[in-house]
Amino acid sequence: MNIETVTTQPFSDQKPGTSGLRKLVTAFEQPHYLENFIQSTFDSLENYQGQTLVLGGDGRYYNRQAIQTILKMAAANGVGRVKVGQGGILSTPATSCVIRQSGAFGGIILSASHNPGGPDGDFGVKYNISNGGPAPEKVTEAIFARSKVIDHYKIVMAPDIDLDTLGESQIGEMVVEVINSVADYAKLMESLFDFDRIHQLLTGSFRMCMDSMHAVTGPYAHAIFEQRLGAPAGTVQNGIPLEDFGGGHPDPNLVYAHDLVEVLFGENAPDFGAASDGDGDRNMILGRKFFVTPSDSLAVLAANATLVPGYREGLAGIARSMPTSQAADRVAAKLGIPCYETPTGWKFFGNLLDANQATICGEESFGTSSNHIREKDGLWAVLFWLNILAVKQQSVEELMQDHWKTYGRNYYSRYDYEGVESDRANTLVANLHAQLPTLKGKKFGDRKVEFSDDFSYTDPIDGSISQNQGVRIGFTDGSRIVFRLSGTGTQGATLRVYLEQYEADPTKHHLDPQEALADLIAIAEEVAQIRTLTGMEKPTVIT
Ligand code: G6P
Ligand code: ZN
Repeated sequence: MNIETVTTQPFSDQKPGTSGLRKLVTAFEQPHYLENFIQSTFDSLENYQGQTLVLGGDGRYYNRQAIQTILKMAAANGVGRVKVGQGGILSTPATSCVIRQSGAFGGIILSASHNPGGPDGDFGVKYNISNGGPAPEKVTEAIFARSKVIDHYKIVMAPDIDLDTLGESQIGEMVVEVINSVADYAKLMESLFDFDRIHQLLTGSFRMCMDSMHAVTGPYAHAIFEQRLGAPAGTVQNGIPLEDFGGGHPDPNLVYAHDLVEVLFGENAPDFGAASDGDGDRNMILGRKFFVTPSDSLAVLAANATLVPGYREGLAGIARSMPTSQAADRVAAKLGIPCYETPTGWKFFGNLLDANQATICGEESFGTSSNHIREKDGLWAVLFWLNILAVKQQSVEELMQDHWKTYGRNYYSRYDYEGVESDRANTLVANLHAQLPTLKGKKFGDRKVEFSDDFSYTDPIDGSISQNQGVRIGFTDGSRIVFRLSGTGTQGATLRVYLEQYEADPTKHHLDPQEALADLIAIAEEVAQIRTLTGMEKPTVIT
């Protein structure tokens, strides 16, 4: 095997964020940039020689090129076998599934999730461990530490691998196995859900529309909804992964999935709509003229889980990220099971799932999943909803309203201020910190502050502590405002403001969330001086 040892110099900016290393494509195109990060990853791992690695991505620009480089580096570093998705395609949940089923030591996912792609867009690299989940902080910190001192990397000089033909080939001693991107994942879905019942639903009068946003779920959605579950051709829209996602922003929310929103809120709207993001781990659920907030979606799935074959035995617990609404907590309380509150980032659910403390997890950022894998899973959430609707024979809106009648409604909204200058964002957070000790007991109109802090999490399984995970202001009536800076952006800073208010009275469950939350929004402005400090009159995205 012709291994070359290449001399390199460290880059100072290879710190993985909430979800791996995300940068502009142009950053990854710098000589040695990708190679340094991949070598730093291998250098931080142990005992992987001769073992299996899973590799794939969301098909965005630079995916194929990065895969060729990583394959040659894996061979040079002694990996035994790489399972790579056909055409370089593997959704994030499918990667997690394949890692677990093949007993791989880990996987590398090439994606910047919901961030735009193309030569001027973003790219990303994320390492997942053998449980199929994102590497915990101690691993990502080790990778970062290594990246700051790295002085060489190893690569095999070999021709490129044909990624489009299924089957095995070799780079030196390492086997490269090009696998069907969909098969293992589709089988796992079939083992969890009542496909016969969903088939009946989708071949009757019920109409659904799935928007894959020109991103990775297209092949999965075609295979599962149209080919296996009988939904008519055309149910899946924008179903061919494109390197630039058709110029769009593959983030399934009310702003970026506007084509789908128009269909579901238009004339002759279908019964059900769903969208997923760049790498297939996020989901948005819509009913006819009805939007389900991700926090409510988590609560509804948990409340109805025993209707679904894979969850018939009930849930061990629920976990949600801190900024996610407390709707799930109410379901957990009724079921008599624990509800865990973790920092933002799917990696924090891994230990709870491994220890069987939680079965279902969710985040306000359009992520839901369960212990079937260790990533969030967009199509899983869609199938879960369809299974529940098929059993209950209700519309999305009826199901949601029944839920609120039983549990009360947690009005919820998130305001994003994107592309804020980093200095300004840091000043805003510093000002909030300065106020934290004095806020308790302070009154804003009828509301009184019960607590204010910067969220700190102690992992109940391994005792690790994660500090400064978001400023929380909680009021005595149970309402909350949370401020945090996004950990996934690549330019400037993104301020997120999360607003939540509980309403028990069913006669008040039909308000527009923006109306219901108007007071809280004003308080957030008063405390954080958002307009002045960001220089922005209004948020870029409201969900
Ligand atoms: C990624 C992670 C999620 C996280 C989300 C938002 O999608 O996988 O777990 O909730 O990013 O992160 P951000 O730091 O941008 O709010
Ligand atoms: Zn994603």
